[in-house]
Amino acid sequence: MAGPWPRIFSSWDAADTLPDDLTSIIRRRRMTRKFSGGPTLREVLDVCDVARRAPSAGYSQGCHFLVLDGSDKDTFFEVSGAGTWFARRAPGVRECTQIVLVLADPEAYTDRYSQADKIDRGLSTPESWACPYWLTDAAMAAQNLLLLCEDRRWGALLFGLFGNPRDTLGRFGVPDAMQCVGAIAIGHRSPEDRPSGSSTIRGRRSSNEVIHVGHWEAPADDPAGFTSGNPEV
Ligand SMILES: Cc1cc2nc3c(=O)[nH]c(=O)nc-3n(C[C@H](O)[C@H](O)[C@H](O)COP(=O)(O)O)c2cc1C
Repeated sequence: MAGPWPRIFSSWDAADTLPDDLTSIIRRRRMTRKFSGGPTLREVLDVCDVARRAPSAGYSQGCHFLVLDGSDKDTFFEVSGAGTWFARRAPGVRECTQIVLVLADPEAYTDRYSQADKIDRGLSTPESWACPYWLTDAAMAAQNLLLLCEDRRWGALLFGLFGNPRDTLGRFGVPDAMQCVGAIAIGHRSPEDRPSGSSTIRGRRSSNEVIHVGHWEAPADDPAGFTSGNPEV
């Protein structure tokens, strides 16, 4: 064909050009599985300091971040088994510059809910919580971290600990009571990074399937008017 080749934008490319308002950052965020270099430890610590400003039940503040950089990151990949797993499935993950373990402390919550202003809730033992708020709060802090990485146009991948989490956590001196809600690999997103993982084989569910208005059995039509916007990004 003579003349310039037509430029075809996939939704993937389009997402990368979205602006930096919060809605766009949420739409743009996706897991990165191919890193190329990354931020400094100082930059990641600064981001963690913002991310910890997540809601916290009773202001218990039982979420901790363990930041692994340099040889600590290498040790994490080795002892957790994640290094071997990603080497087979997504070797670009190993090129991240930091791993942040997001940790939840149940005792911070049972202690807080044993105090005078909370004791009447009956939540002073871990078993009494229908929804363990330490996991809720840590998950919100993890999402903060993912979004802040996207805000800086870095890449991030959240994954679970492989095998027995205690083997990995113990290696880094994490107390037995702590629960890890996820490991977040951080780095610069490689220009070669492409959609991968479950989101490429499973479509995003429609808004009408997961947003219910007034009653679980919402009408099948579009009660909330979810017809605008680009569902691809
Ligand atoms: C709790 C949790 C565990 C996950 N574990 C892994 C994992 O072990 N390996 C991986 O490649 N992605 C993992 N993911 C990423 C999901 O596959 C990904 O978020 C999902 O497919 C949607 O894609 P997106 O986040 O890029 O939009 C995990 C995500 C969550 C929330």
